[in-house]
Amino acid sequence: METVVVTGAAGFIGSHVVDRLLSMDMLVVGIDAFTDNYPTERKEANLKEALQNPNFMLVRGDLNDLDLKATLKGIPYVIHLAAQPGVRGGWEADYEIYRRNNILATQKLLAAAKGVKKFVFASSSSVYGNAPYPTKEETPLNPLSPYGRTKVEGEKLCAASGLPVLVFRYFTVFGPRQRPDMAISRFIKSIYDGEPIDIYGDGEQKRDFTYVGDVAAVTAKSLLTEETGTFNIAGKNIVVINRVVEDLVKIAEMQADLRYLPTQRGDVDHTGADISKAITQLKYNPEVRLFDGLKKQVAWYQREILGREPTQPKYWKPY
Ligand code: NAD
Ligand code: UGA
Repeated sequence: METVVVTGAAGFIGSHVVDRLLSMDMLVVGIDAFTDNYPTERKEANLKEALQNPNFMLVRGDLNDLDLKATLKGIPYVIHLAAQPGVRGGWEADYEIYRRNNILATQKLLAAAKGVKKFVFASSSSVYGNAPYPTKEETPLNPLSPYGRTKVEGEKLCAASGLPVLVFRYFTVFGPRQRPDMAISRFIKSIYDGEPIDIYGDGEQKRDFTYVGDVAAVTAKSLLTEETGTFNIAGKNIVVINRVVEDLVKIAEMQADLRYLPTQRGDVDHTGADISKAITQLKYNPEVRLFDGLKKQVAWYQREILGREPTQPKYWKPY
């Protein structure tokens, strides 16, 4: 059995990657500091099933403080997802949190990972800024947020490490367990709390939404291939925010008021990836369409957050 270390294991994407690796009969060592970007209970709940599995071990600790050489000893694979995420923060003193968790922690982990067969680094569409569509991997990097800058730095550290690295630039990931600060999570919460839905700008900004199950599948599978290099991982669901809100209100079969607020610093107008490199080299195949994924995320919210049986929405959207 192969062993893999997953950092950020208790997070949104990390917990799905852990579940996927366990389903592939791998031994998984998860590392997570349970940072305070959202409540620890939510992160613990993300690992509910994994913690029942004897092939999973959790190390609670900060990458900056742990003895990583000892933790990584003899382990051939590392998937590095731990970070301070979010494009709208980092403009003030909180940049220190981004720097510590995204740059310093990455360098420390890379140094300790000498000799691994594969090191996977979670980068982000935010490295591109407002890039031409469809955005290819060779597009010049022009991040508009402090977070995006830390991801560029992370990519450069990976390149300098000389390790066999796979860099995945994930595009706006959604689905069950999505971080509470992300748009779809916030929209669903507002709908069920009977609060107005906050939309930044005019809501016509586009995102290439990517279902978390597709992200977890390609991340876990690619680990065992010979491939290295940088890949866009996006969902082929390029949709404006206003449409996402409309669909969510219909799926939830609720009413909601909309409140338009100023555009937030750090936000880009659009994302939209060319994923042909991942399709060809990694056999990546994003399967879940936005509408089906939204239904899954609403059902998860009803079950796990509201503690009730999910409803069966009558609304159906043809593609
Ligand atoms: P998340 O906040 O849910 O998960 C990140 C986890 O990392 C958290 O559980 C946190 O406690 C842990 N962590 C942070 N700093 C740590 C440290 N120093 N030591 C140990 N653990 C630490 O975020 P997510 O949305 O699951 O994002 C996972 C990764 O994917 C991040 O690197 C993020 O930048 C990247 N990413 C996310 C998206 C997205 O749409 N969610 C898109 C592009 C890239
Ligand atoms: C997301 C993640 O938060 C980042 O960690 C990640 O790196 C990035 O994707 C990526 O693709 O690389 P973002 O695209 O901003 O960033 O995702 P959301 O937070 O879900 O926001 C999507 C859009 O909805 C943005 O235009 C935002 O302004 C808007 N939004 C967000 C609202 O209109 N209202 C809200 O309450 C929240």
